[in-house]
Amino acid sequence: MSGKALVTGAAGFIGSHLCERLVSDGWSVTGIDSFTDYYDPQRKRMHISGLAGSKSFSLVEEDLNSCDLAAHLEGVSCVFHLAAQAGVRRSWGAEFSHYIDSNILATQKLLEAMKDTGIPLVYSSSSSVYGDTRDLPMREDHVTSPVSPYGATKLSAEHLCELYRVNFGQRYVALRYFTVYGPRQRPDMAFSRFIKAALGGGEIEVYGDGKQTRDFTFVFDALEANVLASRYEGDWNIFNVGGGSRSSVLDVIEIIRRETGGDPPVRFMEKARGDVLDTWADTTKAAGELGFSPTTGLEEGLRREIEWYRDHS
Ligand code: NAD
Ligand code: UGA
Repeated sequence: MSGKALVTGAAGFIGSHLCERLVSDGWSVTGIDSFTDYYDPQRKRMHISGLAGSKSFSLVEEDLNSCDLAAHLEGVSCVFHLAAQAGVRRSWGAEFSHYIDSNILATQKLLEAMKDTGIPLVYSSSSSVYGDTRDLPMREDHVTSPVSPYGATKLSAEHLCELYRVNFGQRYVALRYFTVYGPRQRPDMAFSRFIKAALGGGEIEVYGDGKQTRDFTFVFDALEANVLASRYEGDWNIFNVGGGSRSSVLDVIEIIRRETGGDPPVRFMEKARGDVLDTWADTTKAAGELGFSPTTGLEEGLRREIEWYRDHS
């Protein structure tokens, strides 16, 4: 499938890669991004700069909550909704209003604009909807009980997709990504911070004892899941998108030391509120119904992220 795509969050870490992937697959892409200052907007401009001269890409610098979505939806055959206030640990306190605006209100506004168009939606959800469970690996039919305000907003948006399906026939696929990494990874995320310390001589801060585990997903595997989801013919579904590279934070630091040759000191801090202990994606459903199969393992993926940081620091 190709045609015209609308990508929200187009200048972000995953969104910018997705725009490039869709353009190279023959799609004509409109990307919307409001360049929030959650991290340096200049960095987002750099993410999207490679598409600047492309006839198949146009960038709309607007907030989903105030732009004319109906106009941007004209002629579109699939919407990939990635715009969000991401980040688990900063979602407490006064910051929460940004999470409500970008994750809940913006999704509701998008669904309102889409509800009678017949255009399918691919929504970027999150493993954080599951919360802290001992019942591993996480399956799509497990109880959802987020432990961070961020996770609560990502789950609310999934619920909104379902409400618009039941009431208005809005088709959607929700992709629950598990800790995505690779070139352009957000600067607040663990690998970015660790690599920066290893290359630049700083210190690594570990929240908790470092034995917490994540099912890390290389960004190109997350893109593949989006492409496969755009071809999904059913009315709706929810799929885990994991990389099959479950490791602890301490294991990751070891690989980064080895690959960079750096030996940054590690400081252990208090466990962060809202962080889950472990994630582990059961991707059987995505494999069976989408044909999803991640291809990049942790060591190779980390090498590619380190290489990107070397080129961009
Ligand atoms: P990101 O912050 O790099 O990208 C999000 C983009 O959305 C930003 O460029 C931001 O400017 C834009 N944006 C935010 N609010 C907006 C609004 N109201 N209107 C228009 N644009 C807006 O984050 P990312 O890591 O690329 O995450 C992309 C999506 O994937 C998010 O929905 C996130 O919740 C989800 N997700 C990410 C991960 C991960 O590990 N990175 C894991 C699970 C889920
Ligand atoms: C990531 C994304 O940032 C979220 O947007 C996403 O929704 C979530 O994955 C998901 O899977 O749904 P997180 O797993 O916290 O969240 O990703 P990282 O920031 O890479 O953190 C991984 C682990 O490293 C966490 O346990 C965190 O506490 C730890 N960490 C992070 C540190 O020990 N030190 C740091 O400096 C940063």
